[in-house]
Amino acid sequence: MKVTVRVPATSANIGPGFDSLGIAFSLYNTFEFTYMESGISFSGCDKKYQNEYNLCYVAYKKVAESAGKNIGGVHIAFSCDIPVARGLGSSATLIAAGAVAANKILGCGFSKFELAKICTPIEGHADNITPAIFGGFTASMMHEGHLYTLSYPVSEKLKFFALIPDFEVKTSVARSVLPKAYSRADVVYNISHVAFLIKALETGNMNTLIPALTDKIHQPYRTDLIHGYAEAQCAAKRAGAPVFFISGSGSTCMCISDKDISEELEKNFKELPNSWKVYPLTVDKYGAMII
Ligand code: HSE
Repeated sequence: MKVTVRVPATSANIGPGFDSLGIAFSLYNTFEFTYMESGISFSGCDKKYQNEYNLCYVAYKKVAESAGKNIGGVHIAFSCDIPVARGLGSSATLIAAGAVAANKILGCGFSKFELAKICTPIEGHADNITPAIFGGFTASMMHEGHLYTLSYPVSEKLKFFALIPDFEVKTSVARSVLPKAYSRADVVYNISHVAFLIKALETGNMNTLIPALTDKIHQPYRTDLIHGYAEAQCAAKRAGAPVFFISGSGSTCMCISDKDISEELEKNFKELPNSWKVYPLTVDKYGAMII
């Protein structure tokens, strides 16, 4: 049996929504799973990831075990367009694909929400996993050890642009630079901004979106990890981008506008070091799917 799963890129945090908010976008990784009697094998990915610790296989196995199924063996062929370690949820695509494939091939019968619950501990936070599985704009929270997730609409007026440089930022490094504790003022700042951000993304009201997208929990501590951050922010501003923020833990930055500014962004980012690429993206509404 063969199953092909396509999973969208995701941008987590969206400014103040650290470890909670995420949006799925129209850039994809595709994985073909072929059931075998035993053993595991891989193609289309670096040799160093061709082992039982590959997140795609880890999720496949975890779903099989959660359903009490005999896992058998599997060959996984990768066809990936999402750059790795750039804050676009490439690891979440592996996890979501492994989970969806095991669910289908082994007949586990889990719902998407049950798959998200199984997958979240593999990644450690749900902000990439839930949009990768459900598509769209999601908020996730952990309460007493249980995952809760909600989907919100995003205005069709908003245009999203991913600005992807040629260097990686490892999430573990980007998390290690964050403080262990925050002041009450910073916590209140982020809580209030998230509330306004969700509404601003729904209505497409730029006057609310611009202030709502700022944050005090992660971005101020991470900009040093993104080479040329200030120059990139200026280049986006000159192109007419009203907002600019770090996608996930970087290195990709995102901007949102109510106009198509892709040509202006292309022109300005071509002049910067680090080969920044401009990707105009639309919101993916479907999430992980068998194709
Ligand atoms: N919320 C996570 C972070 C996303 O910012 O560290 C990256 O996986």
